[in-house]
Order: sequence, then structure tokens, then C-alpha cells
Amino acid sequence: MNANEKLIVALDVPTFDQAIDKVKELSSTVKIFKVGSQLYTACGPKIIEKIHEAGAKVFLDLKFYDIPNTVAKVSEVVTELGVFMFNVHAAGGEQMMVAAREAADQKAAQLGIKRPIMIAVTVLTSFSQDSFHHTLNFDREIAEHVKHSALMAQNSGLDGVVASTHEIKLIRQTCGDRFVIVTPGIRPAQADVQDQKRIMTPEQAIKEGSDYLVVGRPILAAPEPEIAARLVLEKMS
Ligand code: C5P
Repeated sequence: MNANEKLIVALDVPTFDQAIDKVKELSSTVKIFKVGSQLYTACGPKIIEKIHEAGAKVFLDLKFYDIPNTVAKVSEVVTELGVFMFNVHAAGGEQMMVAAREAADQKAAQLGIKRPIMIAVTVLTSFSQDSFHHTLNFDREIAEHVKHSALMAQNSGLDGVVASTHEIKLIRQTCGDRFVIVTPGIRPAQADVQDQKRIMTPEQAIKEGSDYLVVGRPILAAPEPEIAARLVLEKMS
């Protein structure tokens, strides 16, 4: 795969107009954009259409977590939107993930399209070991739970997980080479770390075996985002 097939730029902006400006500015270089809950709540499906019109793909990062029937229904809708990738929380359990995957499979077959890549969120990277224990009220290491969640996702027929770059090795060992690993927390050398805690450079993340790198502020907030994107791609090559 070329580097630009592995770079996902997080379109973390509040309005449709700002998102479109960034897409126009970047779409000659960037081929996949991540639409998260802020932008999707502000704009709805028209932002997905516009990204597709610009010739790029969409990772819809809405992290679905609900009863199996509800997540299955939304998975059908997301499949109809023609996105490239979307995600659910592994915490919803295998029954929820299987229902979501089966619904997306059926909808894709009905439409004669490829099912979106479906990935699971294992443990939110904002949890520390302490806050994880406190919130879930059970005594397990985060790494153990990441492993367990990745296996549940794989058993449910999902394609992969979103994970910290520091978990890549563990997930590879557990789920094998074909399991898709999507990693945020990427910071080019010298970039501002901002609120990300456990980061890696693009070159390290590729070397560790990440399949898709999610990069937001180091590109979007750069004085010249297109140049910043090209520099990240160079480091990934
Ligand atoms: O700006 P930055 O490169 O930190 O953006 C990373 C993107 O990846 C954001 O959209 C953030 O919500 C998302 N993300 C993350 N950590 C996760 C899951 C998603 O940073 N565990």
C-alpha cells in the first residue's frame, strides 16, 4: 500500500464550511478523512457526500455503543452511506458486534458494494490504570483488557481495532498479521504533543506495524496543512 492509502486525517473542525475548506486544501494529497462526532453532529451525512465528491474516503468515527438491535440498524445506514471505515465499542460485547457486522454484511450484499472496514474501540486511551479501575470497578490491567477486547472483536468477525501505537505489538501477537490496527496519537518529531499522552512518530508507527495512522492537529493546525501532510507521508514511506 502507498503511504497515502494509510494516512487518515482527522477532520476535527466544528462546521461544514471549515471542513470543506480543509478537504479542498488537502484532497490532492490526503485520501482518507476521519469524521468524528463533533463534525457529524454539526453537518450530518452531507459532509460524507462532499468528501466522496472530492475523491476521498471517509472513516466515520462515531464509536457506536448500544443494544445489538440498535447498533445493527445504524450499521446498515452507515453502510448505505458508502463509508470506507467505521467503528463500534468492543465494550458493547460480542453479540452487539456480531449483529453490527451481520447487518453491514447484508446491506453491502444487497447494494452490491464492499462492506466498510469495521473496527472496534478497545479501551479509550484517555483512561489511566487508576481511572480504568475506578470506572469499571474491576481489577484488570488495561493491556489485558485491550487484548481481550481485540479478541472479542476478531471473534465477532470485525476487521480490526483502534489502538494506541504502544499496543500494536500486543495486538499483532494476539490477533495476527491480517487484523487491521488503526492508530491515533501520532506526532511527527518536533511537533507539539498537545493532550496526547503516549505518542509515536509516523515512521515509528509504521515500523511497529500500524495499518492506518490517524493524524489531526499536526496537519490541520499547521500553517500550511498540505505541506505538513506531505511531510508526514514522506516519513511514512
Ligand atoms: O489532533 P490529534 O492528532 O491528536 O487527533 C487524533 C484524533 O484521533 C482525534 O480525532 C481523536 O479524537 C482521535 N482518537 C484519539 N485516541 C483514541 C481514539 C481516537 O486520539 N484512542
